[in-house]
Amino acid sequence: MTNNNNYIIANWKMYGCINHLKSIKRVIKISKKTNFRKTKIIYCPPFTLLNSFHKLTNKTPLNVGAQNCHHNEFFGSYTGSISPHMIKSVGAKYVIIGHSENRKVGETNLTINKKIYSALNQKLKVIFCVGETLNEKNKKKTNIVLKKQINEGLKNIKKLDNIIFAYEPVWCIGTGIVPKTNDLRNNLIKIKKLIKNKFRSKDPIILYGGSVNSKNIVKLNKITEIRGFLIGSASQNTNKFIDIIKKSII
Ligand code: PGA
Repeated sequence: MTNNNNYIIANWKMYGCINHLKSIKRVIKISKKTNFRKTKIIYCPPFTLLNSFHKLTNKTPLNVGAQNCHHNEFFGSYTGSISPHMIKSVGAKYVIIGHSENRKVGETNLTINKKIYSALNQKLKVIFCVGETLNEKNKKKTNIVLKKQINEGLKNIKKLDNIIFAYEPVWCIGTGIVPKTNDLRNNLIKIKKLIKNKFRSKDPIILYGGSVNSKNIVKLNKITEIRGFLIGSASQNTNKFIDIIKKSII
């Protein structure tokens, strides 16, 4: 991704039924205003709503993505799984990979690497999540963990063009805690350095995620290393999400 867009990504997690769809009509209306052109708003609802979201947001500035995918690109005997090809076929353009809630239930860097590879093959844009747990942070292992997640997750991946990074410290997700500004900046700078060294690329796009809300967004927005936000619970409430969007557009 080479332009200077900023990103606001809604991760609905395992929330939302078909009747919640109408709530995003107000967000569509706002997204059409000219000053929002430089900000990409991406909704990542559960798989069950992907196609309905696509139909509703098609021809609007909003974009749609999935929250995960199987590592097999097409079809296979994997009960309950959804492949990148299937995600693409219902109109989604993005996919979140490596979220800590999936790492926690056994997703490894190796599987994440396979998922990224398959998703990119299907021309999906990947939102690649990295971040340390509280235990790792307390043991001062943050650098090692981030390096391992990036190096192993992106093994044999040649180009960053369709990858957006999301730094999500696990101890900040759903806890109401955000890192101290200096710590956050330092970690973002480290991540940027790791990626630039590995890919000899220009500046990668790095988002922040973890307890972003309409109160802390103003402060977080001042951190120039952050190119946008991955937002969980505050994105599930349309009033709160609109408030965040408005405060992010300067
Ligand atoms: P949160 O979740 O905003 O509810 O902390 C963020 C995420 O899990 O991506």
